[in-house]
Amino acid sequence: MDKLLVLGGAPLQGEVAISGAKNAALPILAASLLASHPVTIGNVPRLNDITTMLALLGDMGVHHSFDGKTVTIDASDIRRPLASYELVRTMRASILVLGPLLARFGQAVVSLPGGCAIGARPVDLHLKGLTAMGATIKVEKGYIHASASRLHGCRLVLDQVTVTGTENLLMAATLAQGRTIIENAAREPEVSDLAHFLVALGARIDGIGTDVLEVEGVRALNNAGNARDYQVLPDRIETGTYLTAAALTGGCIRTTCTRPELLDAVLAKLREAGAAITTGDHWIELSMPRRPKAVSFHTAPHPAFPTDMQAQLMALNTIAEGVGIITETIFENRFMHVLELRRLGAQIAVEGNTAVCTGVERLNGAPVMATDLRASASLVLAALAAEGETVIDRIYHIDRGYEQIETKFSQLGAEIRRIC
Ligand code: EPZ
Repeated sequence: MDKLLVLGGAPLQGEVAISGAKNAALPILAASLLASHPVTIGNVPRLNDITTMLALLGDMGVHHSFDGKTVTIDASDIRRPLASYELVRTMRASILVLGPLLARFGQAVVSLPGGCAIGARPVDLHLKGLTAMGATIKVEKGYIHASASRLHGCRLVLDQVTVTGTENLLMAATLAQGRTIIENAAREPEVSDLAHFLVALGARIDGIGTDVLEVEGVRALNNAGNARDYQVLPDRIETGTYLTAAALTGGCIRTTCTRPELLDAVLAKLREAGAAITTGDHWIELSMPRRPKAVSFHTAPHPAFPTDMQAQLMALNTIAEGVGIITETIFENRFMHVLELRRLGAQIAVEGNTAVCTGVERLNGAPVMATDLRASASLVLAALAAEGETVIDRIYHIDRGYEQIETKFSQLGAEIRRIC
């Protein structure tokens, strides 16, 4: 099992190119099931989760090719609308094929995604919405069996903001009969990127970027020509991760191929910590001239502070001046990184969904274990600031969401390498 060996202490310097967003590429790949002609999607990151999604689509009979940047997908003839447990259990986002399969083929058999380290992650809101649109849904032996002669539009008010729930229902609505209104929709940039891709395929969607999405169903999405070489938007979480690493190590870096407006809340917190940040249309530069100041925040749906950056900012707080209080409001168990950060010398007390972190002058390297994707990233960041050597185990979690992480950090001057 691969590990990362990190020798901390070097301030990060230089430039790093940001990859396409995992959480936009995954729903967009699933949405290709709706197209009756081949589509081409660019700026797709080379990640294990992308490989898993392509394997899932291939299992159904979808033809696809991926050159490490661009994916070509032809879903014109699906053999079997089935997403098996073997693949779904390795990636919860597989649930995103449910809406498209149901809308295009009138049936779907999708394994229930299990929970994961950060929470139970139910999909009840996905199923409730599809049922309201006319689907017959039974859950048997761990599988969702869904069928519908043709989904019909309706007004949906989501009980709580759900990113993939909004995405599943949005995709289903594009081919439903009549008008669908999704209220309390997620406003994450990745949801908007999916919506823009669907419009390029010929979908009719209003309210993109707001919490009310209005969809006029069509019979088929056959403008695949317009979706030729659709470019997935940059990864705002990867951007925030590298900027936080520079802040943690007292360095100065520029992230390129990104968009500052995607992560306003994160940039505001990094400025509050004392970082000097300048931006351009497609780049963000950060320098941290002195010891960071501790920051406090609640995670919340976009445009508020994203839960996917919570662990990384906690790593910053471990060596910051003062006390930072972090409240996690999205997932019930997203403090797994605390136990591992403590092994590096961090002083963090957890009470329910709140973590109180008292900054220390210096962390010390130690063996630690990754538990989930963003927790793993926070361990890399802390290791980069720690004195001495840190070995991070179970880094398959990292490979799900960070493209060439050790190469990119090495380019910034970090001493980091993959070991077996
Ligand atoms: C998406 O997960 C992201 N994944 C997550 O990123 C991200 O952390 C999360 O949104 C929140 O922003 C992808 O986009 C592939 P939710 P998702 O449905 O859609 C509850 C990463 O690190 N809920 O918005 O699964 C749920 O339990 C990953 O890249 C229900 O109760 O999250 C949670 O408490 C981790 N019933 C809250 O809503 C439902 O039917 C928000 O979850 C659906 C969700």
